[in-house]
Amino acid sequence: MHPLLQVKKLNIQFHTDEVRVNAINGVDLTVPAGRAVAIVGESGSGKSTVMMAVPRLLPGNAIVDGEILFDGRDTVKLSEKDLRALRGREIGVIFQNPTAYLNPTKTIGQQLIEPLLYHHMASAKAAKQQAISLLDQVGIADPEARFNMYPFEFSGGMLQRVMIAIALIASPKLLIADEPTTALDVTIQADILVLLKKLQRERGMSLVFVTHDLAVAAQLCDEVYVMYGGMVMEHLLVKSLVHESKHPYLRGLMQSIPRLDGPVERLPYIPGNPINTTQPMPKGCIFQERCHARMPVCDERPPLVGCAEHHEVACWLAQNGGIS
Ligand SMILES: Nc1ncnc2c1ncn2[C@@H]1O[C@H](COP(=O)(O)OP(=O)(O)OP(=O)(O)O)[C@@H](O)[C@H]1O
Ligand SMILES: [Mg+2]
Repeated sequence: MHPLLQVKKLNIQFHTDEVRVNAINGVDLTVPAGRAVAIVGESGSGKSTVMMAVPRLLPGNAIVDGEILFDGRDTVKLSEKDLRALRGREIGVIFQNPTAYLNPTKTIGQQLIEPLLYHHMASAKAAKQQAISLLDQVGIADPEARFNMYPFEFSGGMLQRVMIAIALIASPKLLIADEPTTALDVTIQADILVLLKKLQRERGMSLVFVTHDLAVAAQLCDEVYVMYGGMVMEHLLVKSLVHESKHPYLRGLMQSIPRLDGPVERLPYIPGNPINTTQPMPKGCIFQERCHARMPVCDERPPLVGCAEHHEVACWLAQNGGIS
């Protein structure tokens, strides 16, 4: 059986009047059916770009090259009509900022039932019932009354719950959640993460969770892709993160996570700045300027290769036995 989503040799450039941004530089990634996969990386590493390319929601200045096989169909090449049949129905998306996405002039109920009516999946009456039951499932109290209210009558945390309901209403096979909790305070963030995990398990759907927070990724997901400068540096199972991670970039990220049971001291950080993707990408490893373990061979680009089952890494050192 083929995986639900397979991204192959993906390159994405943004063309602006001033510059060309090499946002995605040869990304391969796979999301098996029913799995929760995290995409982790610093700001600008290309996390949103790679996932928004899946349902083709990138702006018009994006030049996409490569394959994005969703359920065997390449969304890079699909017609607009076929894409519209996928969006909202087979692929649900939760965006970072619900207020930017929701229409302030329509009730929450109208916006919730829209995907069901658009895809002819239910009558208006059945759609309303389904929407109210889903509002209840995502933890909105008094869902019948809430159904008729407008976005401004909801708090930020409640709107994010509504966004989750809108993304799920048509029972998609894949849910893409792009930093869905970064705008919320910590306790509400934790509630939303628990909710997402519960819904993902109950429905057996695939989840791609985009975040800059490795600890959150580990809490929610089964596997992690670590991105840097529009490339995948390492891919591994969450349970292998602590003892098996190999790339110096990922090791650096791991060390900069504060631990409640650890000593109170300055956390290590990765020196230097992220790579400038508006310049032509260097020939060698793109992390070498910031890497404490740089070797002469790093002037050549290390490919992403398997080093164990469910584990790939793009680093010469790691491929020669790893670092301690
Ligand atoms: N519409 C656009 N036009 C030009 N450049 C863009 C556009 N959208 C994104 N970029 C650039 O592409 C690169 C990748 O951006 P992307 O938004 O995918 O990063 P990200 O990892 O999601 O970051 P963040 O954590 O800040 O959301 C960045 O250098 C960004 O400035
Ligand atoms: Mg982003």
